[in-house]
Amino acid sequence: MPTHLIDTIDLSKTELEEILERAAYWEANLDQPQPLQGKFVANLFFEPSTRTRFSFEVAEKRLGMQVLNFQTAVSSTTKGESLIDTVKTLEAIGVEAIVIRHREPQEIKELFNHSLQCAVINAGAGKWAHPTQALLDLYTIKKYFGNCQGLCVAIVGDISHSRVVRSNLWSLRAFGIDVILSGPPSMRDLECEQLAPYVPMDEAIRQADVVMMLRVQLERHDQQLFQGADDYLSQYGLTTERLQVMKPESIIMHPAPVNRGVEIAHDLVEHPKSKIFEQMSNGVFIRMAVLERAFGGIINA
Ligand code: CP
Repeated sequence: MPTHLIDTIDLSKTELEEILERAAYWEANLDQPQPLQGKFVANLFFEPSTRTRFSFEVAEKRLGMQVLNFQTAVSSTTKGESLIDTVKTLEAIGVEAIVIRHREPQEIKELFNHSLQCAVINAGAGKWAHPTQALLDLYTIKKYFGNCQGLCVAIVGDISHSRVVRSNLWSLRAFGIDVILSGPPSMRDLECEQLAPYVPMDEAIRQADVVMMLRVQLERHDQQLFQGADDYLSQYGLTTERLQVMKPESIIMHPAPVNRGVEIAHDLVEHPKSKIFEQMSNGVFIRMAVLERAFGGIINA
């Protein structure tokens, strides 16, 4: 049976550790034989993506897979074919794994009500879940700090529209990391605040070992929730002034894409504290580990 990846909440701490360990293996051993030679994978992205889509494709090719990139605009989904029928069609013609991003979480959840022979990996579902982003975030934090127990991660910004915060809340807390939330009152999320306290912006920045900034997801807003970029940056963004109150060893993260000059000052993206581009590199190793897991774990090529 295939091993799906729906969300981090389905993974025990041991499973999380296994994925991180395997990602570390791939980071150090990219020249090793390709264990998934000849296996067919289809990437179905019904929402825009740069990092997730291409890092999955790089991971798939590094593992030796045959990669099919589904073109949503010219597919039969435009004729009304359902997602489950699309997946079953791909399965029928030999696709063994499906990587999917979709705006409607319910569409992805529905897939798991069916008995599927191919593995399904969630590459981001609406504002519900983004498990591989959470895994690469955890990997990045662990790589930088080693022991994670007792670290404080402040997740700051558009909490209410973020799938990243939801998946991260589970995996970070599983590793004994304290999570605090901050951002504009109009972007708070009471469900998330049942798992992590909301803290005023400047206090969150002072306390945090990791300041994880979130993009304002304007495409998911049905009303204007702030006055403008300058106003947002000065009230809720990571400015050079706020950088001064960060702990000396603390780091900056962001799932990206970044709105430079909105949630983070333009030049701080390349600041030595920023691990934003390192997160993207780590995403390839994590996705290699997740793809291997979909086929039953470590396979000798
Ligand atoms: N972080 C992230 O999911 O980026 P993309 O939307 O570009 O994939």
